[in-house]
Amino acid sequence: MIGAPHVHHRVTDSTNRRARALAEDGAPHGTLVTADEQTAGRGRQGRSWSAPAGSAVLMSVVVRDLAPGAEALLPLTAAVAACEGVDAAAAVRCEIKWPNDVWLEGRKLAGILVEGRPAEGWAVVGIGINVSARLADLPDELRSTATSLASAGRSGARSDEVLSAVVLALDRRLGTPAPELLDAWRGRDALHGERVTWSGGTGVAAGVDESGALIVETGAGERVRLDAGEVHLTGAAGRSTT
Ligand code: BTN
Repeated sequence: MIGAPHVHHRVTDSTNRRARALAEDGAPHGTLVTADEQTAGRGRQGRSWSAPAGSAVLMSVVVRDLAPGAEALLPLTAAVAACEGVDAAAAVRCEIKWPNDVWLEGRKLAGILVEGRPAEGWAVVGIGINVSARLADLPDELRSTATSLASAGRSGARSDEVLSAVVLALDRRLGTPAPELLDAWRGRDALHGERVTWSGGTGVAAGVDESGALIVETGAGERVRLDAGEVHLTGAAGRSTT
């Protein structure tokens, strides 16, 4: 059961950092850490994550003893659950930018950072969802690419309801068999058919394979597989990539 125990901080450095410390001390599967504000929020690929105090859902969950193979799909699982939770709480339709950015109306609404110690049987799923921030309150570098539920016209959305809905969806999706999970992910694939660029080339995104790698058609029938741990997309036609 996700959400018990639940540790809430008014201010902390990073809910992922707190959850990792709890996991290292043996916290059970489902332990939830939340905060109103982070002073050192962590993002993917060494970036930071920031949101004005009280404006976002900031949550991290300790996940233990996943079925074989489920570990690799955890970032995609979290993205599907975040989309489903936000959709249910705010009556929107979120999409996913590979591997696990949550987009609303072509802008980034939520970010996900999965960290873990597979050898020790645990991972931490960290999710940050912009709820009530105004675009003007976001850091300069995010203003043209990010959004919040309030900025997208859902100013009635409540953080506690978004949190509960995402927790529920994560609980359900952690038990979903891989083929069904991948189908749900593909149904929200924002990059499908879009041109994408990475350090090694450019091509047209053609969905994910069974391991969660992005398939890109580079021309003349050639396809390459991009692994999320190794590749950072630098461009996607008409879409932000932050
Ligand atoms: C990204 O898009 O780069 C991932 C951002 C993940 C941010 C969330 S906020 C809650 C949790 N605690 C952190 O320090 N990071 C994640």
